[in-house]
Amino acid sequence: MHTMMDKLTHAIRNCASEQAQIVVLTGAGVSAESGIPTFRGPEGYWSVGSREYRPEEMATARMFGLDPDAVWQWYLYRLGVCRAAQPNAGHRAVVQMEATLGSCFTLITQNVDGLHSRAGNSDHRTYQIHGYINYMRCASECSPELYTIPDEVKPKQKREPLSDGDRKALRCPRCGDRARPHVLWFDECYDETHYRYQSSIETAAHAAILLTVGTSGATNLPMQVGILAARRGAFVIDVNPSPNPFSDLAQQVGGIFIQGVAGEALPRIAKSIARISHQIRVPSLGL
Ligand code: OAD
Repeated sequence: MHTMMDKLTHAIRNCASEQAQIVVLTGAGVSAESGIPTFRGPEGYWSVGSREYRPEEMATARMFGLDPDAVWQWYLYRLGVCRAAQPNAGHRAVVQMEATLGSCFTLITQNVDGLHSRAGNSDHRTYQIHGYINYMRCASECSPELYTIPDEVKPKQKREPLSDGDRKALRCPRCGDRARPHVLWFDECYDETHYRYQSSIETAAHAAILLTVGTSGATNLPMQVGILAARRGAFVIDVNPSPNPFSDLAQQVGGIFIQGVAGEALPRIAKSIARISHQIRVPSLGL
């Protein structure tokens, strides 16, 4: 723990003097304690008719092209799960980190559940690199505009079909074409407009600390962020109950793997960051 405090102190001092960033990168594990199933756990599967699909098959532009109703049904079911969930102690700790660090803080999240934002993290310091399930956009890309899922479209139970009213409402308000969920699909690429690709890379390049939480390292941009930040000398901390590529990375570059759940580890880290920041008393942190 001593090493961690020393390294955190050093990194926070860097953040204050050199405008470096403390970057928190989260995955589905941070929302697991809010009751949202992770992707690669057993509850990630979805059946259409008699067939079982993995998220990697459902969450694709290809599937949306073949069976848009089935894809919308899946997302509207997940929308209900996300709306019913409440932020947990892990989310609240990330809010505390932002409150302490101000402009030195950036949150990169793969989660589309909106729980970080509902807990209180600010939208302008949060990059939702896989989108946000509460929004839709034009499937024909007539504009990049995002629209809240209309109120008349209610979340679905498992196997509950779309109604004609849903189909009518799930259309682009501008051109009338079909709307799609505002989420990144497996057969699509990251971009800046919707998913803050370049911003994430830039932030990673300026990271003094990278705190990764609850992600299995299966997607491309998060791994790029991790590798780039580590290469530039960031202090890498990984929080996860299971070893994973980020815990390996942390250990390779002299960082720390905290083997545990987000709801317990993050409040402790947030408290340490607050304590150190107060001791350093740097004006750019607003202390
Ligand atoms: P995964 O489901 O792949 O991994 C979840 C991770 O969270 C695992 O490493 C678990 O060990 C860990 N975990 C479980 N409970 C935890 C807890 N209480 N605290 C901390 N960690 C915990 O989820 P992601 O890595 O987020 O992409 O998946 C990445 C992306 O792949 C998702 O955003 C989604 C998915 O398919 C898209 O939809 C584009």
